[in-house]
Order: sequence, then C-alpha cells, then structure tokens
Amino acid sequence: MAYSSTDHRLDRLIYVLAKNATVVVPGTKIASEIGVSRSTVWEWIERLRRLGLRIRGHPRRGYQLAALPDILVPSLVRQQVPPQQEIGRKIIHYFCAGSTNDVALELRPDEAPHGTVILAEEQTAGRGRMGRTWHSERGSGIYSSTILRPRLSPAAAPLLTLMAGLAVHEAVGATTGLAADIRWPNDVLINGRKVSGILTEMRAELDRLHSVVLGIGINVNHRRMPAELKGIASSLALEGGKQYSRLQVLATLLRELERHYNLLVEKGGPAIIERWMARSSYAQDKPLRVRTAVAEFVATSNGLHPSGALRVRRENGQEELLFAGEVVEVKSLKG
Ligand code: BTN
Repeated sequence: MAYSSTDHRLDRLIYVLAKNATVVVPGTKIASEIGVSRSTVWEWIERLRRLGLRIRGHPRRGYQLAALPDILVPSLVRQQVPPQQEIGRKIIHYFCAGSTNDVALELRPDEAPHGTVILAEEQTAGRGRMGRTWHSERGSGIYSSTILRPRLSPAAAPLLTLMAGLAVHEAVGATTGLAADIRWPNDVLINGRKVSGILTEMRAELDRLHSVVLGIGINVNHRRMPAELKGIASSLALEGGKQYSRLQVLATLLRELERHYNLLVEKGGPAIIERWMARSSYAQDKPLRVRTAVAEFVATSNGLHPSGALRVRRENGQEELLFAGEVVEVKSLKG
C-alpha cells in the first residue's frame, strides 16, 4: 500500500487553528490563508476530527480548537526547533506510513538533505531490530527516521548508534524528569522496561557512508502495551503516571540529536563513549544473556571498546567484543 505525505496546506490549516487557538477562525479566512476552497476546509476539518483533533464548529462563524493538538506536523515541530539547527530543518510528515525507515531509505539526497526527519502518526509495518515488528499505535508514540549524510567512514556507524541512544536518553530524562537507563546498544529503559528503540540502517560503500537512517521509536502516551510486551516494554505515560506532549518530547529529541551528533563530529568517538559509559548501568559488571545472529550465551559487561562494541567476559574468563546483537539483564550468570 502506498501512503502519501501530508499535504502542506493541511499542515497549514492545523497551524492557523493552533496560532489562533483562543478565537473562532472563519472558514473563508482559513480557505484564503491556505489556498483551498471552503468545502475543502470543511472536508479536512472532518478528517482531522476523525484523527482525534478536537475542533469546534460554530455555525456561520468558523472553527476553533477545543484543545491544542499534539500532532507532529512540520509547522508545529519547526516552531520548537532552533532555525540554525540542521536536524529537523526539513520535516516530512505522514498521518500513516508503512515504516518511516523505508520512506527515508528510498529518498534521494536532493529530496532529503542531511538532517531530514520523516515522521508518522502511525505505522502499519513498523520495524524493530533482529527482524521484530515495532508496535506503532496511532498518535501515541513518536515514530521518526532521521537521515544523516555524515562525512565519516562506515566504521563510525556503531558510534552513531550509541550517539542516538544518548540523545533519546537525554530527551526522555529532560521532558519527563524520570530516571532513564541505556541498554547496549541503544534501548532506553525506565524502571527496567523499554520505552524507546532505535533501528539504524545505512547505505554505504566500503570506505564511505552515503547515508545513515536513525529510526527512533518512543512509546510516549500508550495507555497499555500489547500482552506479549507486558513487563518488557512500557511508555513514558505508564511509567510517569501522566500524559506527555509528544511535540515537546520530539523537539527535545531533535535538539539532543543535533548536540550529540556535533559532539561526535567535533570531539570524536571517545566523547560519546565516555558519556555513554556514565549514563548506562549496562556498561560495567552487568550479568547478561547475549544473543547474536549465531550464538546465545551469558556473560558480564566490561566497558565499551573505542569502536562502540560492548566488551563482555564469559564465565570461563574469555573476553569478547559484541559488534551486533542484543543483551538482556539476568540476575546472575547462572541465569
Ligand atoms: C528496536 O527494535 O528496538 C528498534 C525499534 C525502532 C522503531 C522505529 S519507529 C520509527 C522507525 N521506523 C521503523 O519502522 N522502525 C523505526
């Protein structure tokens, strides 16, 4: 199924209503401001209502927002992002997409310069790591893919992955005040449950990264998680006991991505490694079950290698470097 990105005039309609949130805006005024007919305004208002936006209609007078919309359309996100920032300078929004990573991977450099962000209110084929699906309920989470076109070698890709986890960690902590942890390589956890995951995909040659797509999912306002994720995954709302503004979490995330990306480019890998080690309880002495594409075993974490790989020590004392795979905490090495 082919989905299309949000019409910029529909985005503008939301912006006009949000900007005039305390007043009734006449349909004719909206129509002339966004360049469509009054009947299209009416149709689009109906569509936005079906998507959960609370818009009051006043006969013969116009429309008014009953509540500020928590919707991630470019005009509202851009208001929260510093203009000099590269990440988020171009935003492409979908009400519904298959997977924002798939959209991002298909865009040409001239359509999607460095820092372009793809957002969806809902994904029908959200993808996770290790071939899993990503639960992408409409309007509850942040489903984003940030396109980076770094002048770095493919060897730097794991550091970009760690950098993205750090940015999510900082954004979640700053907007909720909740204590967050990072599980290698870049899951963000609250109270031991996963609230965010990152799927990094790239196009590269042996010596050059063409583009890196950081697919970031954050469970923000989910009121319940699917049964199969109970105890493993959660949302900011479930952990914090209140709803959060997705717009605010996203804007903070984009600022943190910009900050940490610049840190990596300017100061190099050690700056990212040092921060990551300071923020993650998984960095050192954590008993883990390790799963890679080819093996499963228990081991204890023993810091990060400069490449971003996790150093682990097996029961027999043998050290290994984990470049890919996943880890889960176990009570002790006996499992
Ligand atoms: C994981 O398994 O932890 C990674 C989950 C990544 C989910 C995000 S949601 C936005 C982007 N689009 C996708 O299809 N996946 C990523």
